[in-house]
Amino acid sequence: MNWYLEPQGFLGTGASLLADLTLLAYILLLVPGMIAGFVFARRGQHRPQHKTVMIGITLLNWVLIIFLMIVAYNFDVVQNIGQQPGNPRYLIPTIHGVLGLVAQLLATYVIYRMLREDSQVAAAQKRGEKGDALRRYWFLSAKPVMRLTLALWLITALLGFFNYLIRYELLPSFAGNPPGRPVTTEEAPAATPEMTMTEDVMMTEEAPEATESVSPETPQAATTEDAPAMTEEVLADASPAVTPEATP
Ligand code: HEM
Repeated sequence: MNWYLEPQGFLGTGASLLADLTLLAYILLLVPGMIAGFVFARRGQHRPQHKTVMIGITLLNWVLIIFLMIVAYNFDVVQNIGQQPGNPRYLIPTIHGVLGLVAQLLATYVIYRMLREDSQVAAAQKRGEKGDALRRYWFLSAKPVMRLTLALWLITALLGFFNYLIRYELLPSFAGNPPGRPVTTEEAPAATPEMTMTEDVMMTEEAPEATESVSPETPQAATTEDAPAMTEEVLADASPAVTPEATP
């Protein structure tokens, strides 16, 4: 079973269970956690509150990125971004992935510096150092790095939300552009989903089969290996029937 595709999620969007759970995890847990970490830092509650929240969020983020997002990216985006670089279906996850990776590397660096600071200060205190003498072990540039990390995290999460909306066709302006389908060209006006859904097309003999092939509710249908072939078949079937009525 491919966990990226099955079982179906519970939000009724056509996304998989994993995608739905990931989305909710970010909305309900991770994004609030990122903001809570920032608030703890602003209030000076660096240890243990800020530190614990930062470590928890960063680790959970890595787990989701490695086991889910990189898998989803390799499954669907990698082979298409070269051919359709301007297609938001592939472009948004790519920008999202680059920003997300930078954010995660920065967060991981901050954690490393926090932990190093703790162990160096503890060792210095054992040696009898105290007060201002301990300042040299502090991670003094933490503030700008953490702010940049938080900004990148939030932008990435927002783009992730758009990923979901675009991939599962929840935004009307991006609907009908599932993976594997070529972006509409001048030569192929009949390939647009609106046209293939017209009554004329539905009434042709081949229409039920064609409609099924070109208007998947979910991206899964079009990610199968034979998706391009299906698109061609539908172009051939649908063009004559829709051209007069469907072309404005
Ligand atoms: C700070 C780091 C990141 C955050 C906060 C984040 C957040 C999100 C969210 C909220 C979603 C929507 C839920 C979903 O559709 O599963 C999502 C989806 C996605 N993310 Fe990320 N992400 C991060 C890093 C990355 C990285 C590094 C990559 C790629 C290498 C990536 C690739 C993807 C892809 C391909 C999807 C669509 C998955 C699907 O088909 O449902 N993300 N991300």
